[in-house]
Amino acid sequence: MLAAFTALVWLDSAAFFIIQNTPQLKAGTWHGTAHLWIDGAIHCAAAVGSAWLLGRRGIFTVLAAAFAFLGAACLLLHHPASILLASGLYPAGVSLYSVALVAYPSLLIRGGSAEERGRRAGWLYAVAGWMGSGLGIGMGQNLGRVPPLFVLAAGVAILGPQLCEVLRGRRRELAVVGGVALAALAWSLLARPRSAPPLTAIEKGREVYIAEGCMHCHSQYVRPGSPDELMWGPVEPLAKIRREDPPLIGNRRQGPDLTEVGARRSALWLKAHLEDPAEVSGASIMPSYAFLFQDQRGNDLVAYLGSLRAPDGTAHLREEQAWRPSAEAEARASASDGAQLFRRYCATCHDAGGRTRLRWQAEFQRRPAEFPQGPYFDLPARLPLPQLQIDLARMTKFGIPGTDMSGHEYLPDPQIASISLWLSQTIAQSNPNGNPFRIIQEKTR
Ligand code: HEC
Ligand code: HEC
Repeated sequence: MLAAFTALVWLDSAAFFIIQNTPQLKAGTWHGTAHLWIDGAIHCAAAVGSAWLLGRRGIFTVLAAAFAFLGAACLLLHHPASILLASGLYPAGVSLYSVALVAYPSLLIRGGSAEERGRRAGWLYAVAGWMGSGLGIGMGQNLGRVPPLFVLAAGVAILGPQLCEVLRGRRRELAVVGGVALAALAWSLLARPRSAPPLTAIEKGREVYIAEGCMHCHSQYVRPGSPDELMWGPVEPLAKIRREDPPLIGNRRQGPDLTEVGARRSALWLKAHLEDPAEVSGASIMPSYAFLFQDQRGNDLVAYLGSLRAPDGTAHLREEQAWRPSAEAEARASASDGAQLFRRYCATCHDAGGRTRLRWQAEFQRRPAEFPQGPYFDLPARLPLPQLQIDLARMTKFGIPGTDMSGHEYLPDPQIASISLWLSQTIAQSNPNGNPFRIIQEKTR
């Protein structure tokens, strides 16, 4: 009885979770006064029917009927066209077994003291009620469906004892049923597709992301209407997140949101950073993942991260172009802070002896400019100092799209303003002859 009730509660909870969390199913079964009245009427009729059956035919018949209704409803949920039928079967199945679940420990167990029956009821509600519903909800959450094989297993748990009873002493029938079952098994194995198509690098990289637990430090969810949007946007449609299996919105945010990281970071930057985060990102607390590059996992992960970007991020680019540090941040900027921050966050690439620069020198699309002497690729020629400062601030915060120069979105504005103040002053001082920029357009490689 314990196994049978657990299986029924499990099916019920899984189906309930799936219906409540699939908008299309919920609309087809749950929305609107008419639906609710019909559901209520089915519940009531099935409950009365259950009581009648319990008295006339016994509890096994009721459980078998409940299983037939619930199992069919679970299987029908796979097919959008049969929602209406499923929505009728589901409440009937629930009421059929619910009445039995209450009646069984209180009225139907014969013999034993009241205490003994109480204990049995306790076990029934603890295992079938709590565990069965927990497992059912877990199945709904993780799989989003009730696998047909599970419905079969539930059927065995519920109907098995009765079938054994019936089949005892019927060798011939048993042989026929066994033969058919074996043939069905062989057929299903033979008809199964030989092998799934091989995973792409991006799909494999996603598995690495999951296996390494990156989501315990990184979200992939840009909160609409929050400062996230400017730093890590644009916002993604909820439907896209829902389609993901499993969704990787993350469960803590120790590091930046990665929804759009493919648009904000180049492959080289991602590789250099995974190998040595603290060197590339100024004393980062992120652990090194250099070991992933001993095999293909590292490159797969970089391919996955590179794929995280909206098909068209240009609206967001316009927002970045219009950005400048607030007047308050500019007022609080200090050149000596800027020099210090530069040593911490930038020197590794922009100083002649910087570690990241030397480590990856053969692989930069263009060698990072040495400050203050250049040569520069991105800074426009002949800018008045205040405009130069704004351009530097924007490049420092958002990086330079399409290059290995990454943004520092997470630095507070006063720090960005300090860096750009110090950089613009040093550039101007060391190039005192009017035109401070040595623009060299040819590529170093
Ligand atoms: C202990 C927490 C932690 C773990 C685990 C972690 N990270 Fe990070 N990550 C951070 C922090 C903090 C930063 C910000 C500082 C920096 O750039 O290193 C960061 C930065 C990043 C960035 C740069 C994003 C940006 O916009 O600047 C990427 C990409 C990244 N992590 C990817 C990963 C991947 C992939 C994994 C798993 C293999 C991972 N992280 C695991 C904490 C973590
Ligand atoms: C991981 C290496 C790396 C780090 C760290 C880095 N940069 Fe860069 N930066 C580059 C590269 C590569 C370029 C050249 C981009 C290109 O291809 O045009 C560049 C270009 C620039 C430019 C444009 C210069 C030009 O050529 O006109 C500025 C300004 C700049 N970086 C500022 C900074 C600041 C400020 C920091 C620190 C807050 C910083 N960068 C940190 C790699 C880096």
